Amino acid sequence: MTKVAVLGAAGGIGQPLSLLLKLDDNVDDLALFDVVNVPGVGADLFHINTDAKISYHLKSDDNGTGLQNALQGADIVIIPAGVPRKPGMTRDDLFKINGGICADLATGIATTCPEALVMVISNPVNSTVPIFAEVFKKHGSYHPKRLFGVTWLDSVRANSFMAQVSNSIPSSLDVKVVGGHSGDTIVPLYSVTAAQEYGRLSEEQESALIHRVQFGGDEVVQAKQGAGSATLSMAYAGYRFLRTFLEIDDDAEELPVESCYIPLDDSIKGAKETKAYLKELTGEDIEFFAMPCELSFDGVEAIQFDLLKNANEKERELIKVCANTLTGNINKGVSFIKG
Ligand code: APR
Repeated sequence: MTKVAVLGAAGGIGQPLSLLLKLDDNVDDLALFDVVNVPGVGADLFHINTDAKISYHLKSDDNGTGLQNALQGADIVIIPAGVPRKPGMTRDDLFKINGGICADLATGIATTCPEALVMVISNPVNSTVPIFAEVFKKHGSYHPKRLFGVTWLDSVRANSFMAQVSNSIPSSLDVKVVGGHSGDTIVPLYSVTAAQEYGRLSEEQESALIHRVQFGGDEVVQAKQGAGSATLSMAYAGYRFLRTFLEIDDDAEELPVESCYIPLDDSIKGAKETKAYLKELTGEDIEFFAMPCELSFDGVEAIQFDLLKNANEKERELIKVCANTLTGNINKGVSFIKG
């Protein structure tokens, strides 16, 4: 029996994400939580005759126990709660509002379902994931293997944009993206994971492609003309990342591998090597980084560190730029809780 809780389920990302989860046969119990509008979303989804059981909870329900009720017994918690980016707003501008929302939700998880896999979509992910980590530490319920920033959208975009420029089939590509989840912290490892297609591009095409992946979110913000940021593609990416866990086959010889933004905690296989490599390359002590990871229902089993070592010169330069910005983003998240 798998229970998934969606926190921020009535939002632009939360609604399509909840729909995709309602359609998934591997979800037995789907709990929707929000501060507004969630009864309508829940009632609407309830009419779909798939087997996932729906419950919906407002923060204000039952003297404020809505969050607890949503989280009770959850195996996986996915979090698109927050405010979206408006034109001219960077992800970091969102930080203060979303940081507070994330700290509250993290407290709820720490006290209600501390063993759950926690998948953070709320931006700025580079800083909100460290907020979750710090809150969990405070409550003595920090499981670094089980905390993820969802960066799958960067891989989705890296594949789609490469397919367009190289005239290849989007679904045939599986580009791994490392680093963080905003602007110049996003580093697609094209030379390692799409070498053939990458080799066919001119230098101008390469640079334009990398820039487009790094700032793909802005394309959507501008096109939506004030109506928000990426929702449908983000919901898809969040669902696909979560689905990886729902589909884990205990008898399979190999674990699935996906990129996600995780704590580089020494308890995780490959974390020490990744940190040491990043320190040597960039001079920074980096505590959170998106890497391709081998995943099981227990969380990250191992970081695929070797991919990093194979990055080409240009990608190594991108990692240096990433490290500089990312370190600041991480510190911002940590000091939001620690002061
Ligand atoms: N607890 C739960 N839900 C909350 C809370 C809270 N404390 N505060 C806000 N929400 C809900 C809102 O009520 C809304 O339904 O989160 C939802 C956010 O939805 P939208 O405003 O439509 O934003 P969306 O486009 O879905 O983006 C959500 O994901 O990618 C990020 O930058 C994006 O941080 C933003 C988040």
